[in-house]
Amino acid sequence: MKKLDKWKFIGENGEFKVENADQSKYLYFPLANEAEMMSAITPRLHGDIKTGQNTFAMRPVSLEDLHNTKSARNFWLKVNGQNIWSVSGNSAAQFAKQFSGEEEDVELEAGLLWHKITRTNENLNLKAEITNFVPTNSDTLELMQVKVKNTGDEALKIEPTAAVPIYGRSADNLRDHRHVTSLLHRTKTLENGVVVKPTLSFDERGHKQNEVSYAVLGAEADGKAPVGFFPVLEDYIGDGGSLEWPEAVVLSSDDYLKAGAEIDGYETVGALKFEEITLKAGAEAAYVIAISIAEEEVDYDKLAAKYCSQEKFEKYLTENKEFWEQKLSVVDFNSADREFDQWMKWVTLQPILRRIYGCSFLPSHDYGRGGRGWRDLWQDCLALLLMEPEPVSDLLYNNFSGVRIDGSNATIIGSEPGEFKADRNNIKRVWMDHGAWPLITTKLYIDQSGDLDFLLKEQSYFEEGSELKDQNDEIYQGTVIEHFLVQHLTHFFDVGEHNNFLLKNGDWNDGLDMAENRGESVAFTALYGSNLLELAELLKALAAEKDLEKIELAEELSILLDTIERDFNYGSVDYKRKVLSDYRQTCSQGISGRKIEVDLTELISDLESKGQSIFEHLNQNEWIETEAGDKFYNGYYDDDGQRLEGDHPKGIRMTLTGQVFPVMAGVADEDQIQQVVDSADKYLKDLSVGGYRLNTDFKELKTNLGRLFGFAYGHKENGAMFSHMAVMYSNALYKQGFAEAGHKVIDYIYQHCKDFDTSRTYPGIPEYINQRGRGMYPYLTGSASWLLLTEVTQIFGVRGELGNLVLDPKLLKSHFDAQGEAAIKTIFADKLLNITYLNSNQLKVDDYQVQEVKINGQTVNFENKAGAAVVERSLISESAEEELKLEVVLN
Ligand code: G1P
Repeated sequence: MKKLDKWKFIGENGEFKVENADQSKYLYFPLANEAEMMSAITPRLHGDIKTGQNTFAMRPVSLEDLHNTKSARNFWLKVNGQNIWSVSGNSAAQFAKQFSGEEEDVELEAGLLWHKITRTNENLNLKAEITNFVPTNSDTLELMQVKVKNTGDEALKIEPTAAVPIYGRSADNLRDHRHVTSLLHRTKTLENGVVVKPTLSFDERGHKQNEVSYAVLGAEADGKAPVGFFPVLEDYIGDGGSLEWPEAVVLSSDDYLKAGAEIDGYETVGALKFEEITLKAGAEAAYVIAISIAEEEVDYDKLAAKYCSQEKFEKYLTENKEFWEQKLSVVDFNSADREFDQWMKWVTLQPILRRIYGCSFLPSHDYGRGGRGWRDLWQDCLALLLMEPEPVSDLLYNNFSGVRIDGSNATIIGSEPGEFKADRNNIKRVWMDHGAWPLITTKLYIDQSGDLDFLLKEQSYFEEGSELKDQNDEIYQGTVIEHFLVQHLTHFFDVGEHNNFLLKNGDWNDGLDMAENRGESVAFTALYGSNLLELAELLKALAAEKDLEKIELAEELSILLDTIERDFNYGSVDYKRKVLSDYRQTCSQGISGRKIEVDLTELISDLESKGQSIFEHLNQNEWIETEAGDKFYNGYYDDDGQRLEGDHPKGIRMTLTGQVFPVMAGVADEDQIQQVVDSADKYLKDLSVGGYRLNTDFKELKTNLGRLFGFAYGHKENGAMFSHMAVMYSNALYKQGFAEAGHKVIDYIYQHCKDFDTSRTYPGIPEYINQRGRGMYPYLTGSASWLLLTEVTQIFGVRGELGNLVLDPKLLKSHFDAQGEAAIKTIFADKLLNITYLNSNQLKVDDYQVQEVKINGQTVNFENKAGAAVVERSLISESAEEELKLEVVLN
C-alpha cells in the first residue's frame, strides 16, 4: 500500500502538497466564493456542490459518504479502445487495486482556494492533472480543468467523457421523496452540456414553482463543444452498470443525444462525450467543465463561452488566487517557525469560510439548514474585525436587532443583515452563554476603533418574526448599552439554588442540554461577571469622552438596576429571583416605550457591585480542593442540584470550561491560576489528542446534565481536545500573563495537527481531535477566530485600547529568529502595519519590555503601561501612507 505522506508547504501563501493523498478517504477541501457557492472536494473528486440547503447541484454528502462514488465528479478515458481509466480514480478497476501496492500515484496540491490532483498511471502511460476552484465573482459555479498527458513513447487513442451526477434539489429530498423528486426533473441538452430545471421545489407544506437550474457544461481547451450527451442516469450507467463502470463509457456507446433534446422525469447526469482524439507521445489535451447553479434564467451558451476554455480557466484561476491572497494579506506572521506561519494562513481563512458555509455545508457538518448560530456569529466577528473592520462594524450593529427584551435572542442568523430565526427546528431554546458574546466582540471593536459612539446607537429588539413594538404599536428602539444591560441583568438575577446563573438549555457547550431546571453554569457566571465590570469601564470612558452625565434607558430596566436607591441582597437567591420575576411581570404586558434618565455614575456603580458580587461569590463557593489537595474551580451543577467537579467515587471530575472563564475573567488570582494550570496538567492534559481535553472521563451517562455523556469518551464535547475551549484557555492564560503556559496549549494543538499520520487533517485547526487522534470537523470552527485573535492581540500583543495602539508582545524566545526578530502584518486604524519586534539580546518573555518604537524610521513617544507601549492613534491614522513600518525594540 502506498503511504500517505505528510503535508508540506510549497509556497508563500499556504500552498501545500500531499503525496498519495488518495490513501485517506476522509480528507476534504473547501472551494467557495462570497456569492455563497459552496463546494467540498476530496482527492477522488468526491464531495458536493451547493448554494444552500435547497439547492444542491450534487448529492449532499456526510463524512461516511466520501468513500463511495455516488457523488463524485468524474472524467473517463477509454484508451486505445480497450482500457477504461477514471482520472479521479473512481472506477471499479482502480478500487480493486487499493491496498495492492500497485495503486496509482496521486498527488494533491492545494492553495487559496484551489485544489489540484495529479494522478499517474504508468501502465497506461497517462498522467492527468485535475484542477478545481470556484471563481470569485458573483457567478455560482465550480470550474474543473482536466489535463491529460501521454507520458509514453507511442500515440494513444482516447475517448473522453466527463460525468457529474446532477442531484438538483433540496438536501431534504435525499431520503424524503428521492424518487418522486426525480419526476420533477426537466432536462435539456445544450450546445455545451446538460441542464436540469425541476418543475417544483418539493415541499409538502406547500410546493412552489422552481426557478433554479443546474447545469454541467464543458468544452475542449480551445472551446470546442462536446459531441454529445447521456443526460439520463440510467441510460448512462446502463441497467447492469454503475457509476464506477458506466455502460456508455465502457461500451463506447454512440447512442448519445445531440444538443436540443428534452427529457422529462429522470435522474440526471451531466455526462458529456468529447470527440475521440489521438494523443501523440508527450502530447497533452485539456478539457474544462463548469458545474453551475443558477437562481435566475441564464444564457448557457454565454456562460459556456465565458468559462469553458483553457484560456478562460487560467484567467479565472489567476484571479481566484489573487483574490484570496489579497484578502488574507492583511494578517501575516513572520516568526522563527515559517511552517507555523503558513499553517496560520489557513487558520486565518477559516472564519471567512464559516461566514460562507455557516455550520452546515461541509461533509462533517451534516446538520442544520444553513445560517449560523448566535455565538458563532459573534465569535467569528472577532477575527473578521482584525481582517475587514469596516463591514464588520455594520454587521455588529445589525446583529443587535436579534436580542429579545427578555435577554435571550434569535438563535439562527441568515446571510442577510437582520435576518434572524428563533431556532432551526422551531424549538425555542435558551443558551445561557449567548448574552455574553456580543459584549466581548463589541469591546474588541471599540478598542480597535475608538468608536465609543457605537454604544449610543439605537437598535430595535427581536420578537418572533419581526421587531418588538411597544404598547403604542411603535417599533421600540434602545441604545446598544441598553441591549447589553438587558442581556446581562436578566441573567444576573436568573440564578439557581447555588446562586450561579441557570444553565437553561445549555451554555457554550451545546452538549449540556439536559439540566434545564436546576442546572447552573458557574463557568459562564464568571464570564458575565467580568463583562459587567468591562461594561462599567466602557461607560466610564464614554462619560469622560462625551462629557455625558445621564443616559436614557427603557423604564422597565429600573427594576434590574436595583442598587440605585434600593436595598439589595445579592447573597440571597430568593431576592434575585423576585427581582427577575418583577421585571418579567412588567414586560409581559409589552414594553411601555417610556424612557427614564439614569445617572451614569450610578449605573456604573450598579454594574460594579454586581460584577464584584459575582467574583466574591465564585471565590468563596466554587473554588474547590480535592482530597488529593488539587485546587480548581467547579464549573457546573447538574439538574439534581449536585456540584459537578471535584472528588467522585468514579474518579476526579474536572472540566476545562470551568477553569477557562474564571481565569479569563480575572476571578482567579496568580496563585489560583497556577493551581488551575497544575490541575489541568494533571487531569486534562493528554498529548495523544493534542493537549487539553474538555473534561475527565465521568464514566456515567449523566442524563441529569446533557447528551454529551452519551457520546463515547474522547469524542466531541465529551472529553475530546476541543480546539475552541483549548484556545480560549490559552487566550485566558496569556491575558493573565502566563505566556509559557498559554503557548504550550497552542503548541500542542499545532504539533498534533502537523503530525499528519495521526491527525489526518489538512493545514488549519479542526474543531476537535478524537480519541484516535484524528482531526475532526475541519475548517468550520470558532477556534480559528480565537486562535487568530490570540496570536495577534496576545502573542504578538498588537491590539487597540479605546482606539490607541497597544504593543504588548508575549513572544517566547523560540518565536524570534536568529537575528532576534519576529514580525507581524496587521491592520489598525485603516493602515497596514508591518511590525517587527527586535529582541537582539534574545531575552525571555518576562525579561523584556518595549523600549523604543519607530514608525517609518522615526522614533515616537508612547506611554509605558506595565511594560506595554501605548501609542496614540493619531500617530498612525494621520499618516499619509497606507502601509507603515513599525520597529519595536524590546529590552
Ligand atoms: C461548536 C459550535 C459552537 C459550540 C461548540 C461546543 O464549536 O459551533 O457553537 O459552542 O461546538 O458545543 P466550534 O468548534 O464551531 O467553535
